[in-house]
Amino acid sequence: MKPRKISEKVSFLGAQDFDRRLFDELLPLPNGTSYNAYLVEGSEKTALIDTVDPKKSEILLDQLAGAGRIDYVVSQHTEQDHSGTIPQVLELYPDAKVLASPKARSMLVDHLHIDPERIREVEDGEAFSLGDRTLEFIHAPWVHWPETILTYLPEERILFTCDLFGSHLATTEIYAHDPVCVHDAAKRYYAEIMMPFRKIIEKHLKRLEGYEIETICPSHGPLYDEPGFILDAYRSWVLDPPANLVVLPYASMHGSTELMVKHLISALVERGVEVSPFNLTVTDLGRLAEALVEAGVVVFGTPTVLTGPHPSVVSAAYLVAALRPKLKYGAIIGSYGWAGKALDAVKSLTAPLKLKWLEPVMVKGLPRDEDYASLDRLADGIAARNKGIG
Ligand code: FEO
Repeated sequence: MKPRKISEKVSFLGAQDFDRRLFDELLPLPNGTSYNAYLVEGSEKTALIDTVDPKKSEILLDQLAGAGRIDYVVSQHTEQDHSGTIPQVLELYPDAKVLASPKARSMLVDHLHIDPERIREVEDGEAFSLGDRTLEFIHAPWVHWPETILTYLPEERILFTCDLFGSHLATTEIYAHDPVCVHDAAKRYYAEIMMPFRKIIEKHLKRLEGYEIETICPSHGPLYDEPGFILDAYRSWVLDPPANLVVLPYASMHGSTELMVKHLISALVERGVEVSPFNLTVTDLGRLAEALVEAGVVVFGTPTVLTGPHPSVVSAAYLVAALRPKLKYGAIIGSYGWAGKALDAVKSLTAPLKLKWLEPVMVKGLPRDEDYASLDRLADGIAARNKGIG
């Protein structure tokens, strides 16, 4: 697509990647993604804010062909989906400088081999004049790497946020005017990318209260001309207490664990507890991450493979721990053939979450009546605790 004006002095550039299905070789992308860049043309200088993934460099370079000169490239975040085309832009504009945080300098040099002489560090709160437009830089580490900055354009009350407030959503629309679709994509994105840093994001949200913001321009997904939509969503995801929701990732090899999972789901629902089960052999891990945004309890269901948990449960436990959700309680249910250490392995993998563990229910072979009674007691315990945290 050609550059699209979002104001007299600001254009929306970048690439929609409708076909990408995996990000960082890790995250499924059911709706593709976009790499947004922005051109700010002041009366004296012109700045490009972020670039695009190297696979889409040609699109950005074509867009810049009609743009005249570039004096500065603002690198808000060094990850390659935003910085990967900076080397080509610098080649095209030999006098252009990169504006970036002090932490970004070595990362730009290491990841992209950019000449350090072409990098100008910007301080937190620094106002950088382009003539009749000003870029104010806000250091915002860990959204999503330590070097990240946001850029505020006070004359137009536009906030450029790079990964923060983004969504993996390829669309021809400029603005987020499909609230259900965008909310879902932004929540999934928050869960996968931002949730591990929610304590820090809480501070960033507080700081942004001091800015008058009319438009939020992230570097993935549509822009927000009603910024309250995404700001309120983030406040809820970051600050609200956990909901009355159990996330239940599980695998079953010969049916015993699945019988237990089905019984526990039914018992929890009878007690007024919502459950999101995820059969790990078929599930989209992005959906699991999204459910973790609000859940208060996680129950892992696992058969025993040799002496440990099923590998898909190992992977899910690692992911749950890495995402640092608001979870308060954990439990483990499952089955074994002769012996096993599945419990210890899952607890060890999720140790960083400091969960309070409920009594596990591990069954030898097929579950019996007394095992179903144990699952009922586990459901009682979860329901009682959820009243306290929900
Ligand atoms: Fe969109 Fe952290 O890169």
